[in-house]
Amino acid sequence: MTDILTHTEDGILTITLNRVAKKNSLTAAMYTAISDALEAAQADPVVRVAVVQGHETIFSAGNDIGDFLKAPPSADSPVIRFLRVISSFPKPLIGAVCGAAVGVGTTLLLHCDLVYAGDNAAFSLPFVNLGLCPEAGSSYLLPRLMGHQRAAEALLLGDPFTAETALEVGLINRIVPPAEVHALAHRQAQRLAAKPMASLVASKRLMKQEQAAPVAARIDEEIAIFGRMLREPAAKEALTAFMENRRPDFSAF
Ligand code: COA
Repeated sequence: MTDILTHTEDGILTITLNRVAKKNSLTAAMYTAISDALEAAQADPVVRVAVVQGHETIFSAGNDIGDFLKAPPSADSPVIRFLRVISSFPKPLIGAVCGAAVGVGTTLLLHCDLVYAGDNAAFSLPFVNLGLCPEAGSSYLLPRLMGHQRAAEALLLGDPFTAETALEVGLINRIVPPAEVHALAHRQAQRLAAKPMASLVASKRLMKQEQAAPVAARIDEEIAIFGRMLREPAAKEALTAFMENRRPDFSAF
């Protein structure tokens, strides 16, 4: 699987989204590869920290839209496994984001412990614009992070937001030039990897204790609605319009 590169060194698993020609949009096979890597890292005492990164020009354009049309998620879809694995990953997880982070490209960051972004990062959650609803627990986590009204701008209007806004609302930790993002994420991973593992894991678990069960339940609830909406005409129109490089026509919906 060359669309996902994994590399483990000095206790750090680095997962690189590597489908740049398609803006790192995520296919079922890519979700499976990331889930496999994170599950193996969870079980492997040698791995102490994981980093998810894209390319200096693009983090991820979200779910592959062709895949959405061909195979809308159902209960055993790779995307659902991915959401469950990433949201319950017990070791420290770092996100390194440059360029666009669309849909799940942004919502997966809600499950990272530290996020570093390039000044070219642009976050967007265009679920409603696609006739869909939020996923990855974002309908639960985003209003709690940024407040209802700002979450509504992101989730209902689908307005993109900049790295500065992401920093201000607490979605990311720091903004640096794009060429420095991966190195910064790696340096922070090295700092974490040098700390006592049991303390890191216990601390992360305690920090997330209250939200663990509601987030897991919300991920399941969202994906059931999302899967249903994907099969409905508004989403089909939006996604087909993207594939056909035209504006969607929602006048009938
Ligand atoms: N699924 C499938 N293919 C995608 C994709 C996606 N989510 N996002 C981009 N691509 C493909 C394009 O179809 C295009 O393929 P082609 O070269 O074979 O025509 C290629 O990636 C480049 O995309 P393009 O739109 O030309 O790049 P851009 O730099 O102008 O814009 C984005 C980049 C990320 C802003 C834009 O691609 C985009 O908005 N993508 C869709 C995001 C989205 O709605 N995701 C779903 C969220 S739920």
